[in-house]
Amino acid sequence: MNGIDEMTTVLEPAPLPDFVETKYVKDITNRALSYIKAGFPVHFRGPSGTGKTTLAMHLASKIERPVVMIHGDEEFSTSDLVGGQQGYRFRKVIDRFVSRVLKVEEDMVKRWVDNRLTVACKYGFTLIYDEFTRSRPEANNILLSILQEKMMDLPVGRGGEEPYLRVDPDFTAIFTSNPEEYAGVHRSQDALRDRMITLDLDHFDYDTEVAITRAKSKLSKHDVEMIVNIVRGLRESGRCEFAPTVRGCIMIAKTLKTQNLTPPKANGAFMRMCQDILASETSRVGSKTNQERVKEIVTELVAKELGMGKTVDVPDPFREKSLTGPEKAEKGTAVIETADSKNVEEDRTQEAESESLAGVSG
Ligand SMILES: Nc1ncnc2c1ncn2[C@@H]1O[C@H](COP(=O)(O)OP(=O)(O)OP(=O)(O)O)[C@@H](O)[C@H]1O
Ligand SMILES: [Mg+2]
Repeated sequence: MNGIDEMTTVLEPAPLPDFVETKYVKDITNRALSYIKAGFPVHFRGPSGTGKTTLAMHLASKIERPVVMIHGDEEFSTSDLVGGQQGYRFRKVIDRFVSRVLKVEEDMVKRWVDNRLTVACKYGFTLIYDEFTRSRPEANNILLSILQEKMMDLPVGRGGEEPYLRVDPDFTAIFTSNPEEYAGVHRSQDALRDRMITLDLDHFDYDTEVAITRAKSKLSKHDVEMIVNIVRGLRESGRCEFAPTVRGCIMIAKTLKTQNLTPPKANGAFMRMCQDILASETSRVGSKTNQERVKEIVTELVAKELGMGKTVDVPDPFREKSLTGPEKAEKGTAVIETADSKNVEEDRTQEAESESLAGVSG
């Protein structure tokens, strides 16, 4: 990367480890890619944990240009994006031919240093501006002309012949943001939003949530499905301050995995884990009422999942429907027809009851 200042980190467009590509993920990626190809910046907007940052990085890897990433920040000014005068410069030069020769250059002369946005515009890289509405709107003004006129106004201090930089035609921008009601988020400017194509994301569909949790934890499909059912049950209850996200599923699954446990084998520990993780994830200030309400719902959901036995064998529509219904307790026995398996089901229900008691008292 000759000529690019060493203060800027440029990432290689590489596939992400453990990335899961379900139908849902492919569909959004392809839609976004078609807008990018038509020359428009794409903006993923949605609640926390809906995969915006991951999708942005995935999309960038498909564009196959080097990637520059910026995280929105309240403290940002335009010069944090564009560049400014920096007073100290440190350079290590390793001689390629005589490998023991290491030259260190240092100087204190003030010089202009291009920041990430300038680097991306100049070299036609892909810019990921994650959570861009966390920066103050006036800091983002510089983007208006970049996105529309493909020109970047440069501050006088930078030097050079022209007061502006022509944006390289390969330059692409991907934005992400949380909805405006989130703490620490500014309203996005209408003019800026009007220059990008916004795709609104919601929580993952069932199959994607299971696939992601599996990929991250390496737990079995059956165990992961139990966890996902609990988290989705809590989410769909609509009674949390914040809906629990796939991160909750991942945290529970990974904690189990590192302890070499599965939900049925963990006894009361599984219940406590679900309560701790889900109560903390769904509350901003840790209010007692939210915690208690969440613990109550989780207790019920966990008991039902453990009592249910083989969730994996339940056909999709039944599982989806039964998740939200209050009569969920019966669903295990309703599905499994043979006398033998009924006995098994009853045993499991008992196990679940003692488990839930252990959870409450412990
Ligand atoms: N397609 C995917 N494959 C594998 N893991 C994924 C995928 N999408 C999301 N994840 C995982 O789900 C979690 C949440 O995703 P991500 O961080 O992208 O969400 P977000 O919408 O950016 O959330 P926030 O608004 O809180 O920043 C992360 O742990 C991420 O690794
Ligand atoms: Mg994010």
